[in-house]
Amino acid sequence: MKRLRIKSVETMLEHAGHRPLPKRLGAFDLVMLGIGCTIGTGIFVLTGVGAAMAGPGLTLSFVVAGVACIFAALAYAELAAMVPVAGSAYTYSYAVLGEAVAWLVGWNLVLEYAVSGSAVASGWSGYATGILAQAGIHIPPAWTTATANGGIMDLPAVLIVAFVTGLLVVGTRESAWVNRVLVAVKLAVIALFLFLAFPKVDAANWDPFLPMGWFSRVSDGNNVGVFAAAAIIFFAYIGFDAVSTAAEETRNPNRDLPIGLVGSLAICTLVYIAVAAVATGAVPYTALANDKEPLAMVLRTLNHPAAAAVLALGALAGITTVLLVLMYGQTRIFFVMSRDRMLPPVFSALHPRFGTPHLVTIGTGAVVAFIAGILPLDELAALSNIGTLFAFFAVALGVMVLRRTQPHRPRPFRCPMVWLTGTLALLCCSALMWFLPAETWWRFLLWSLLGVVIYAFYGYRMSPLKQDA
Ligand code: ALA
Repeated sequence: MKRLRIKSVETMLEHAGHRPLPKRLGAFDLVMLGIGCTIGTGIFVLTGVGAAMAGPGLTLSFVVAGVACIFAALAYAELAAMVPVAGSAYTYSYAVLGEAVAWLVGWNLVLEYAVSGSAVASGWSGYATGILAQAGIHIPPAWTTATANGGIMDLPAVLIVAFVTGLLVVGTRESAWVNRVLVAVKLAVIALFLFLAFPKVDAANWDPFLPMGWFSRVSDGNNVGVFAAAAIIFFAYIGFDAVSTAAEETRNPNRDLPIGLVGSLAICTLVYIAVAAVATGAVPYTALANDKEPLAMVLRTLNHPAAAAVLALGALAGITTVLLVLMYGQTRIFFVMSRDRMLPPVFSALHPRFGTPHLVTIGTGAVVAFIAGILPLDELAALSNIGTLFAFFAVALGVMVLRRTQPHRPRPFRCPMVWLTGTLALLCCSALMWFLPAETWWRFLLWSLLGVVIYAFYGYRMSPLKQDA
């Protein structure tokens, strides 16, 4: 135990008590937080990419990725209720698998939250630029294109990150309120889409249902089929676990966390399956393939231009909420890592008036904005997925290890059939990682290696558990 530098749950709760975050959130806020973070760029933009990879079988891709997430969510819920301390998968790994693994998980959560925040901001930029163009305002392309794609920078992406950073510095309650309004708008435009497109579904568009089969590697090294699309559109599910990062700020975590995690995930899964089935049924999948605003395009094709414009505006609002929650999650993870002395103490300083970790919030905002300005959406999304799947894997493993090592510890929420659910979560996460492109794997390995080096030179030396080892 000492060699692994495991931090006991008691110590964790005690440390959290030294610089606690205010407890303001309830179950409804958590479900809203989960939906706010989850439904965004994935369904509004990546549906086009997924249709190109799987055809109408995209509906099954959403089922596959959703099932993987449900197993992981049940594991998350058990740990989140037991260790209601901010930090998500990082915190749970520290309590179960030890400091080194925790650091690696925390380091890869940066891919899940900060990098996907950048991806989402660049998706936002695409919609914003499109809406402005419809209104006759044309931003020069050099200022809306990522540096890596030959532009100066993606300025709208940078600006939306700056706006969201400001909201988060002002406080969780205000941010949760804004989030609630934007979630309602986003669900309303999805309902509008289903209402108008469902009557136009033609079963002929679903034939053949699996034009690219389940999985195959094509000659250019890319993957296609239901599973390959599932590995990419998994991005659409990223974020429901941000609910667990709010554990410490939740009034009744034992009850509210499982409701927040499983509830928001279940709602998102149903919405995605419905949208994918209706979109691929209403128009041929080849029309959807790689479209930058596929759902709006479907409505325009069906002769509903005004509804398409409303949907585009709602998508913009929806994507904003995703960014809000992802950045919220990242700041709380950095906050906890700093409180654990894995990162410098300045990262856990609280604002005297707002009570928020303002310095880490501003620092995170600067990095997310920078990355969003220079890198394109597709590369960022694949990288986010692999980091997230790694964290899900660690959580599923952690819940099973803790059942074995501390069987009698009170568990306010017990993951049903933990050995089966946990094993299925491990298998699903590994499989989805495997279906991602080889290039993504190289980036992930390099990022992890960098994390190991930083841990060896900083976290390992600064750790309060050092004297015990
Ligand atoms: N799940 C989030 C989205 O779809 C990251 O934008």
